[in-house]
Amino acid sequence: MTIEQQITNAVVAGVKALYGTDVTAEQVQLQKTKKEFEGHLTVVVFPFVKMARKSPEACAQELGAYLQENAADVVAAYNVVKGFLNLVVSPAAWIALLNDIAADERFGFTAATDNSPLVMIEYSSPNTNKPLHLGHVRNNLLGSALARIVEANGNKVVKTNIVNDRGIHICKSMLAWLKWGNGITPETAGKKGDHLIGDFYVAFDKHYKAECDELTHQFMTEGLSIEEAKEKAKQEAPLIKEAHEMLVKWEQGDEEVRSLWRTMNEWVYAGFDETYKQMGVSFDKIYYESDTYLEGKEKVLEGLEKGLFYRREDGSVWANLEADGLDEKLLLRSDGTSVYMTQDIGTAKLRYEDYPIDKMIYVVGNEQNYHFQVLSILLDKLGFAWGKDLVHFSYGMVELPNGKMKSREGTVVDADDLMAQMIEDAYAASKEMTKKIQLTEEEAREVARKVGMGALKYFILKVDARKNMLFNPEESIDFNGNTGPFIQYTYARIASILRKAKDAGISDIKITGVPAISEKEIALIQKLYGFRAAVRQAGIDYSPSGIANYCYELTKEFNQFYHDFSILGETDEQTRSFRLVLAQAVAKVLALGMGLLGIEMPERM
Ligand code: ARG
Repeated sequence: MTIEQQITNAVVAGVKALYGTDVTAEQVQLQKTKKEFEGHLTVVVFPFVKMARKSPEACAQELGAYLQENAADVVAAYNVVKGFLNLVVSPAAWIALLNDIAADERFGFTAATDNSPLVMIEYSSPNTNKPLHLGHVRNNLLGSALARIVEANGNKVVKTNIVNDRGIHICKSMLAWLKWGNGITPETAGKKGDHLIGDFYVAFDKHYKAECDELTHQFMTEGLSIEEAKEKAKQEAPLIKEAHEMLVKWEQGDEEVRSLWRTMNEWVYAGFDETYKQMGVSFDKIYYESDTYLEGKEKVLEGLEKGLFYRREDGSVWANLEADGLDEKLLLRSDGTSVYMTQDIGTAKLRYEDYPIDKMIYVVGNEQNYHFQVLSILLDKLGFAWGKDLVHFSYGMVELPNGKMKSREGTVVDADDLMAQMIEDAYAASKEMTKKIQLTEEEAREVARKVGMGALKYFILKVDARKNMLFNPEESIDFNGNTGPFIQYTYARIASILRKAKDAGISDIKITGVPAISEKEIALIQKLYGFRAAVRQAGIDYSPSGIANYCYELTKEFNQFYHDFSILGETDEQTRSFRLVLAQAVAKVLALGMGLLGIEMPERM
């Protein structure tokens, strides 16, 4: 039983004993005692004043005396400030709480049971025409952290990804490769497959733009306005026409096109896998648009038959969402081909066939807010139980400060380059430290990987997901700020203390009896205990930043304690054991919390 539960029960018994009235546990309000007063937990007595037929002060006095008398193992002392009964929790109760936390390897986590709801979380969802970029990094970090947080709150979780592997974008890369690739492969180029394909996508755009410029000029000399000429050039440039022809062939199942498409997608997936591995993200089930878009088409035609949608004269199929306060939405083009929305309907269908989904969360940038508003309504109309309440976990843009790490083409920051740079920077920043503790080169590299990735992940995840943000690499590696490395360093410091204790022959650390403990130490135990509430709240708010914040607070609290008290230098054995258990529990909870964010903790740094 927690300290809160013990006190609550004692208050319920006290009200009954003193005033003869039955109250429920829910009627007992417990708060953390305000800093300016003595005590740890405060009972609000106003709800009982009527039953007591006394002033709030008198009621609080009576209840305080009752608790001190009848719940002496928890309540050591009390004082009354107006209608607030401040309770000093006994050292024995704090020690018991710390022992509970120390004994629970997964403190704060709730395990799923057979009856737990199944939550499917989609994240990443790249297109196969280019490598992952900084925006995907934020997406993947948020999505995987969210999955761990939802799981830690007792849900079954399925992590999923929808790869947009078909469409005009990939045809552009394929066409460029055919035209200018000279048979080059990732092996012969010595390049990751996703980067190679990305290069051809860029090449396509470059040539296409040149064609457009030339045609625009020509159309203008033929008398069109500049806008008209530009529009016409975009449609009629030979390259885009060729790409469209290729897409038609792909849809018809043309073996040559399909075979090239398969080969090039495989190159891309091999590249993505490396990126995901470095990032530390994974999926339980990956869906591909090429498998889902026809399903979507079928679903739309089904809806058309049921009268949910309507067909226009040109043959296109639409949903009228005016009754829902939105406009009309295209679902199938006049030539029968699918649009982005169609694919999402098909993907939903397959997912629902594969899993008994109770809740669906889509981690997708806020530029698609409208898309998901519409998708929710369409899925609901089509009879998906979870459609109406689907969660679009919508996040803001992330950018680097100007001039920092512009990628080859100067517009987007490549995910692989960024991670490599972070690890390099971490290596340079921790060189002095790792030399001092005599790590081998290999060990130092491994520390740099954890620290560099930890810096990146923490900096991105500590920000409210909805906000746009700037990722500042230098700031993120600062060992003294609100950063991943600051927390990692504190963890490594505790690990080092525990190693030293072991070397000194203190291995099985246990608290014997009840040592005298200070308010600072109590504050640290209280903070540790707060992890459970932090995990819960993060699960309710879908908020990785809540966990990041908690880890930072706990780290600061520990550092204050460590600044004022010595651990191994303490001569009283009972006190030393207590502080070792306390430090060990802090390290464990930090590892659990940072683990939820996908951040690994180095044992030495
Ligand atoms: N691949 C899409 C894009 O890059 C994102 C897909 C998001 N997920 C979804 N179910 N629509 O814009």
